[in-house]
Amino acid sequence: MSKLMKRTHMCGTLRADDEGKNVIVNGWIAKRRNLGGLIFCDVRDRTGIVQVVFNDDIPAELFDKADSLRSEFVVGVSGTVRIRESKNMDIPTGEIEIFADDLEIYSTSETPPIYVKDDDNVDDNLRLKFRYLDLRKQQMQDNLAFRHKVVKICRDYYDENGFLEVETPILIKSTPEGARDYVVPSRVHGGEFYALPQSPQMFKQLLMVSGCDRYMQIAKCFRDEDLRADRQPEFTQIDLEMSFVDEDDVIEMQEGFIKRLMKETKNVDVELPLPRLTYEEAMDRYGSDKPDTRFGFELKNLTEVPVVAAVSKEGEGAFPPFVEAVNAGGSIRGICIEGGADEYTRKKIDKLTEHIKTFGAKGMVWIKAADGDWTSSVNKFFDQDGLKAIGEVFGAKAGDMILIVSGPSKVVFDSLGFLRRHIAGELGLLDDNQFNFLWVTDFPLFEYDEEEGRFQAMHHPFTAPKDEDIDKVESDPGNAHAKAYDIVLNGVELGGGSIRIHDRELQSHMFKALGLSDEDIEAKFGFLVEAFKYGAPPHGGLAYGLDRMVMLLAGADSIREVMAFPKNQSAQCMVCGAPAPIEKEQLEELYIDVVENVQE
Ligand code: AMO
Repeated sequence: MSKLMKRTHMCGTLRADDEGKNVIVNGWIAKRRNLGGLIFCDVRDRTGIVQVVFNDDIPAELFDKADSLRSEFVVGVSGTVRIRESKNMDIPTGEIEIFADDLEIYSTSETPPIYVKDDDNVDDNLRLKFRYLDLRKQQMQDNLAFRHKVVKICRDYYDENGFLEVETPILIKSTPEGARDYVVPSRVHGGEFYALPQSPQMFKQLLMVSGCDRYMQIAKCFRDEDLRADRQPEFTQIDLEMSFVDEDDVIEMQEGFIKRLMKETKNVDVELPLPRLTYEEAMDRYGSDKPDTRFGFELKNLTEVPVVAAVSKEGEGAFPPFVEAVNAGGSIRGICIEGGADEYTRKKIDKLTEHIKTFGAKGMVWIKAADGDWTSSVNKFFDQDGLKAIGEVFGAKAGDMILIVSGPSKVVFDSLGFLRRHIAGELGLLDDNQFNFLWVTDFPLFEYDEEEGRFQAMHHPFTAPKDEDIDKVESDPGNAHAKAYDIVLNGVELGGGSIRIHDRELQSHMFKALGLSDEDIEAKFGFLVEAFKYGAPPHGGLAYGLDRMVMLLAGADSIREVMAFPKNQSAQCMVCGAPAPIEKEQLEELYIDVVENVQE
């Protein structure tokens, strides 16, 4: 049995000031080199790495022990801090080393299946399977510590502002966030199922009815949806709700948090109030309800520009894609990529076109501005004056490139919204150290679900309409706007929320507009509707995606980098092997029969 050498210092904290001190560190062997009479080891803990030197003046037995060290052995080392002969200014402890006088090996290690190295380019599933090794990397430890800091600032801020942290249940009935539920079978109530919360939405509203007044929770949420770099099936929200507030009150409270968060984590002074764009402006200018405003390339609507309108009508000289778009009630819009003409060869433009086909675009027009003749993919339809007239809309200069998409407005917005950001990425315009926050407000209350042939709540059915649109809820739902707001950071939806309906009559108009029968309402939200009979305060709130927030602030490119044990692309936990079959007896107890060959 090894004896515990109680540490005096963490590895990464030792500095030149500590020269001459007798210290003990504990940690993992990151590297070992035997140079004959000298053995150098790097010892690592979560704070960093320190170099330890064993020389052969120490007892032979100890020197041999040091020689037996291998990567990832766990050790305790004591010694004296001294200034290094050859300094390594790349690491914070690089001026010093520990001149060792004792060593304890707590554990040995087999050769690890992945290297514990920040830039190790290993297969993702292997990283996730051996996550505890992956997490030994400095970057990963820094991410965990950073996440802790964000949560701490959040708890402090909301506590100081009178919010109570309340835990809401995990085994519940379905919540109205629109994704698929994860369900848990009940043993006691055979044939019945709990749903895991997609968010604490209805419970936080019940807390407002209870008089809790201001609620916050670092809440686990579960959504069975397709995974992406910023989506996980199990993720965390900073969830908030406030009573007796309007949109401005909620927004102002959040801005205080964002300011403090950015100061304390990044030393960035965020200017308040944050910019606000209505949903319509955001779509019009950026083709997206989560615009990245770190760069320009704003959209322009060309539908009514005379030279464009002239070729959008059937007849001689008509450009069929524009005609089709206009006839179908769609639009023709474009973006101008400053200095893009040389960079974007035919081949690269073809690639962009392939990308936007996934949004339903049939094609794309390009125009390249020049000192002499302008070139374009539509020379047959526009003469030089025509091309230049389009260029004028964008203020295009020689060397710029204009890209135009026509079609149903959704296709046009999705395509140009994508192109803006994609091209900015290709041109290296996405600066990780710039933090552009903004609010998007006045969302549509409903969106039309083509498949189901009816309106759906864009946010959720408890979101209040704008006061001036109350009459439209049933009569003109497509044009009603909501008291809903999203907070966006660098093109990512960081959070979203709304003022809720607390008026029972308005709520029933809303349910009618959604085509919900009394049975549907009772089955889905009966308990909340019931609670509203007994005195609901005006209330509203918001939830941030904590993982996304930490990802963006840490400069990580996926939320998986800032979660300790994330799921892989197929929603599996590679560490523990979930999901997995369960015993036949357990299935029987739960009254569940698994259909054979479900995996096929
Ligand atoms: P919403 O559904 O917009 O609102 O979610 C709020 C925020 O949660 C984050 N988020 C996710 N993060 C990681 N993986 C996911 N699968 C995922 N889904 C959502 C996003 C998003 O902005 N109850 C409402 C909030 C409210 O109205 O108060 C809600 O859940 O950052």
